[in-house]
Amino acid sequence: FDLFMMKEIFEQPKAVAETLVGRLAQDGKLVLEEMKLSVGDIANIDKIIFIACGTAFHSGMIGKYAMERWTRIPCEVELASEFRYRDPILSNRTLVVAISQSGETMDTLMAIRHAKAQGANVLSICNTQGATIPREADAVLYTRGGPEIAVASTKALLTQIVATFLIGLHLGEVRGTLNSAQVSEIYNEMLELPAKLEQILETVEPLRELTRKFAEKNTVLFLGRHVGFPVALEGALKLKELAYIHAEGFAGGELKHGPIALIEEGTPVIAIVPNTHEHGLDERMLSNIQEVRARGAQVIAIAAEGIDIPGAAHIIRIPASPQMLQPVLATVPLQVFAYEMACARGTDVDQP
Ligand code: BG6
Repeated sequence: FDLFMMKEIFEQPKAVAETLVGRLAQDGKLVLEEMKLSVGDIANIDKIIFIACGTAFHSGMIGKYAMERWTRIPCEVELASEFRYRDPILSNRTLVVAISQSGETMDTLMAIRHAKAQGANVLSICNTQGATIPREADAVLYTRGGPEIAVASTKALLTQIVATFLIGLHLGEVRGTLNSAQVSEIYNEMLELPAKLEQILETVEPLRELTRKFAEKNTVLFLGRHVGFPVALEGALKLKELAYIHAEGFAGGELKHGPIALIEEGTPVIAIVPNTHEHGLDERMLSNIQEVRARGAQVIAIAAEGIDIPGAAHIIRIPASPQMLQPVLATVPLQVFAYEMACARGTDVDQP
């Protein structure tokens, strides 16, 4: 690999596999020793707050969808740089989950101290053994992504998403909102992610070629719904950070409340098409695609095999998965897109 970022993109199947390995015992129970949260602690939780910065914040946004569905505990997500200066309402029944690749991000560290001073329990999701954040937290779940050298986070994000899912499954199982068969089913679906990621990585070269068609564009918009919404935000963040292009991510339902005005003839819009028909999410995204196309957008859809996308100029296929797990797959083409846009525009990919 010419650059660390592409090397790390290709390390994602292994990073996800390592983060999952050995987490489910023969009896179907999740094994998360390094969490150090007792059954009593877990029963006591009445609110969960994810805090993080940058890309890690997006993993918290995705984690919230899973956490609330699987545990029925109210869950919030907040930027550490906002949380640390607020007066959040916390108690010893609040579980704060701090997410950080490096374990050294100052805003996240300060947010942890702010939470602990008010009696909250702090669990950290971290990729770096012995870093300050896990040392100051009450408990830690280490992601096993290996060192991330490129500044823009890639494999750390995927492992963080997986870690939030593992915590959600564990809490759901202990609190009885999930039974062990449900936990095993979701865990087994997660075990299929590395092979699906490998399939996506086989398409990197054509994706790079496609990306170069957009190298002269000055605005790229991203659209998603449900867990595809944080994926859209992540796609935009990567593009801003690496290629220095105006990029924004929107929730599909918000288009009509202003953002659609940004679309001009030829504006690239990357749409993450949901894997699910639940709540009509897929149809709603397809109608968003028609709306932006009517304003002249060039739509690039990210969608599972077999989904028909009328109006898309290009379709990037990813393997089908349950909706909750889709971000782990859908994020990868966006990483490659940002990488290639940065290369085409001559910016420094590894040290933006
Ligand atoms: C940013 C990086 O500056 O820091 C992001 O560019 C990263 O990729 C963010 O997500 C937060 O870092 P960390 O180490 O706390 O996850």
